Amino acid sequence: EETTFIMIKPDGIQRRLVAPIIARFENRGFTLVAIKLVHASESLIDQHYAELTSKPFYPGLKQYMLSGPVVAMVWKGKSAAALGRAIVGATNPKESAPGTIRGDYCNDVGRNVVHASDSVESAKREIALWFKPEEIAHYAPCDLGWVYENVA
Ligand code: GTP
Ligand code: MG
Repeated sequence: EETTFIMIKPDGIQRRLVAPIIARFENRGFTLVAIKLVHASESLIDQHYAELTSKPFYPGLKQYMLSGPVVAMVWKGKSAAALGRAIVGATNPKESAPGTIRGDYCNDVGRNVVHASDSVESAKREIALWFKPEEIAHYAPCDLGWVYENVA
């Protein structure tokens, strides 16, 4: 089954939004398979945002991501990557719809509280970057038949 990498950024921790953000994914029927609080290194953030290192906003983004710990998570579910993006909402909170995490909690693109992998391929890369294989749990919640019509 598909997995995606979701991260609560330093502002989400500082603003005590860890539990409400996790609840969004639990309530949608996602399964939590990995979680840890990490104060990232420079090289980890450079690798995580490798596609963005030449952007003019990158120094600010890096400073933001290094300003405190983050909560790194892997969530499992059908279409986890696409659905994870939908739950998180548009990059710029000026465009993120109410009902999304960013649409409900954010104002500024440089303080958008949460990260979600943008594709299945990105999810694989990011999960491998942040977690060792033995940090990923394998289990089936007992309610899956109530979340999905056809359980894989
Ligand atoms: P992530 O889930 O964090 O990867 O965001 P995203 O996929 O919605 O957007 P993208 O990967 O393009 O950008 C990564 C992060 O860089 C964003 O979440 C913002 O925090 C930041 N960012 C992107 N564009 C801008 C910008 O124009 N200005 C500023 N200040 N930050 C930006
Ligand atoms: Mg992105």
